[in-house]
Amino acid sequence: MKILITGGAGYIASHTNVELLKEDYELVLVDNFSNSVYESVERVEKLTGKQVSFYEADLRDPEAIEKVFEAEKDIFAVIHFAALKAVGESVEKPLEYYENNITGSLNLYKAMRKNGVQNFVFSSSATVYGDPEQIPVKEDAPVHATNPYGHTKAMMEQILLDAAKAHSWNVVILRYFNPVGAHDSGLIGEDPEYPNNLLPFVSQVAAGIREKVVVFGNDWSTPDGTGVRDYIHVVDLAKAHVKAIVKIKNNRGSFIYNIGTGRGYSVLEMIRAFSKACGHDVPYVIGPRRPGDVAEVLADPSKANNELGWKAELGLDEMVNSAWKWQKLNPKGYKN
Ligand code: NAD
Ligand code: WQD
Repeated sequence: MKILITGGAGYIASHTNVELLKEDYELVLVDNFSNSVYESVERVEKLTGKQVSFYEADLRDPEAIEKVFEAEKDIFAVIHFAALKAVGESVEKPLEYYENNITGSLNLYKAMRKNGVQNFVFSSSATVYGDPEQIPVKEDAPVHATNPYGHTKAMMEQILLDAAKAHSWNVVILRYFNPVGAHDSGLIGEDPEYPNNLLPFVSQVAAGIREKVVVFGNDWSTPDGTGVRDYIHVVDLAKAHVKAIVKIKNNRGSFIYNIGTGRGYSVLEMIRAFSKACGHDVPYVIGPRRPGDVAEVLADPSKANNELGWKAELGLDEMVNSAWKWQKLNPKGYKN
C-alpha cells in the first residue's frame, strides 16, 4: 500500500517512515529541503534495509506536486508533514508562513482531488489550543491559536475538514504535543539549524556547543515555577501515524486526536533528567518569561488511546537517553 509523505526528510517524518517501512508500506517522499537534508532519507533506508521513492519538490509549486501524483499511481493516503514550524519566526515573517503552509497545503489538496486520493493524515499541533482553559486538554477544547504559525495549523485543519466533507475524504488530524527524542539506533534524530525548542537546546548545552540554558521564567503557577509541557517521544508519535493509517483503512469520516502522554514535566525536571542521561550537570540560568508562553499544557490522550488503540509507551528516560545518544553520535547532525 502506497503512502505519500510530504516533508518526508524532516524530523518527525523520518521516524514515521521507519515505522511505516517496518509494516511494509511503500513510501513516496516529497521535500524541498528547506529544513532538512537528503542524508536523513538515506539513514532511514539504511536502518530499515528498504528503499523509498523520493522527489525534491516544493509544495508551493503546483506543477511540481502534480507531477508526483502523475508519476505515482495508486497512492492510498497522504501524510502531510511539510510546514514551516518556528513560532518566533512566524511572528516576524507571517506572509512566508501563510504562503508555505496554506498555499502549499491548498496545492496538495487540489492535486489529491484531481487524482482521486481520498485518505489523509495531518500533522497538527497543540499550538491550535493556544492558552487552554482546561488542563488536560480535550479535542473539543476551543481552537484559538495565538501566533501566525498556530493560525496556519488551525486554518489547514479547517480547510481540510471542509474539503473532506465536500469530497468524501477520510481524514485523521493528529495534534502533537511536544515531540522530543530520537530513534534508539542513533541514526536519525532532530537536526535543527538553531534549536528553538527546549530539549534540542539542552542537548547542545550538554554537548558544550552552547554555554547554558536560559530557563524562561520560574514564576509560573506550576509546582517549581517553570513551564510544564507534555513531552512525547518521537517514536511513540511515529507509531500514532501507523495507527492513523489503519484507522482510515477501516473507517470513513474525519477524526481529531491529541497525541501526548497526559503526563507533564517542568523545564527544571527536563534539565535534571538530561543531566542524568549525559552524566554531568547541564548549566542553566533563570531568565525572563518568553513572550507568548503559557504555564502548562497537557494532553488528554484518552480519545487516541480508545479509538486508535495507540498509547505512549516510552517515558522520560527514553526521551532524554535517545536525544543524548543522537547528539553524541552526530555532533553536527546529519552534516557529519
Ligand atoms: P521538520 O522541519 O523537521 O519537517 C518538515 C519538513 O517539511 C522539512 O523537511 C522541510 O524541508 C519540509 N518542507 C517545509 N515546507 C515545504 C514545502 N513548501 N515543500 C516541501 N517540503 C517542505 O519539522 P518536524 O518537527 O518534523 O515537523 C513536522 C510537522 O509536524 C510540521 O507540520 C509541524 O508543524 C508539525 N509539528 C511539529 C512539532 C514539533 O515540535 N516538532 C509539534 C507539533 C506539530
Ligand atoms: C517548552 C518549555 C519554554 C526553550 C513549541 C510550539 C508548539 C509545538 C512544540 C509545533 C516552555 C521552556 C524553552 C528554552 C526554556 N511546535 N524553554 N528555555 O513552546 O511548549 O511548544 O514546540 O507545533 O507549537 O509552540 O515548546 O520546547 O519551545 O518550550 O525555558 O531555551 O521550555 O518556556 O515552558 P513549546 P518549547
